[in-house]
Amino acid sequence: MRAQTNCGIWCCDKTRMSDIAEDETSFYSNAEDYWRDVSPTVDGMLGGYGSISSIDLNGSKAFLQKFLGEGEGKTGTGCALDCGAGIGRISKRLLLPLFHTVDLVDVTQEFLDKAKTYLGQDGQRVGNYFCCGLQDFAPEKGRYDVIWIQWVIGHLTDSHLVEFLRRCQSALRPNGLIIIKDNVAYEGVVPDEVDSSVCRELGIVRKLVGQAGLRIIHEEQQMNFPKEIYQVHTLALR
Ligand SMILES: C[S@@+](CC[C@H](N)C(=O)[O-])C[C@H]1O[C@@H](n2cnc3c(N)ncnc32)[C@H](O)[C@@H]1O
Repeated sequence: MRAQTNCGIWCCDKTRMSDIAEDETSFYSNAEDYWRDVSPTVDGMLGGYGSISSIDLNGSKAFLQKFLGEGEGKTGTGCALDCGAGIGRISKRLLLPLFHTVDLVDVTQEFLDKAKTYLGQDGQRVGNYFCCGLQDFAPEKGRYDVIWIQWVIGHLTDSHLVEFLRRCQSALRPNGLIIIKDNVAYEGVVPDEVDSSVCRELGIVRKLVGQAGLRIIHEEQQMNFPKEIYQVHTLALR
């Protein structure tokens, strides 16, 4: 996650995503190079904002628990997928305590290696560590109750994000949920040259979700984050 002030560009630049699509190879390889140099720590995962990890995880837990439990329409607790998992910050404190099995997928092998120790005893319930870019990743059909996608959609082009979300929908179990939790821009699409990502305004994220054939069933803003960082929104989709 990056502070707004690091991004340099505040204004809406709606042509930017198509520029990126033309230079897709470097958009992805520059991001890989960036993350390869980041320390495999909570602070590294959060761009120096490690201190907000607990607020984030408590907010996520309250959000997710609305959908779990017994009864008609409730989401199961068998298996979750942590997308752009990094060292497993979310798996450790949110997903492993709630789900029997958790799979992690991330493009940075060093982070997944770190996760194997960072997750401790509970890491024994990790089913798979997939080292793969989400743009190329096809989750197993019908495997997941929850697919958690946090602070990583900005690393995908629009078309790759739509296609990935479609594959995620096919990977859900009955009553399964896809959760996107991410920064949202004030307006338009704001590129970040440092980590080779973009930050989209909420309306654009909603539009891409719709193009993937998904429906937003609940949406919240994460409160109590520092004022200088982007607003963070959580969307539950199915
Ligand atoms: C800001 S960190 C967030 C990590 C984790 N989601 C969290 O909240 O602690 C972004 C993560 O996305 C991964 N990443 C970047 N581009 C990716 C891609 N195309 N596919 C999968 N993972 C990617 C990075 O390696 C890094 O672990």
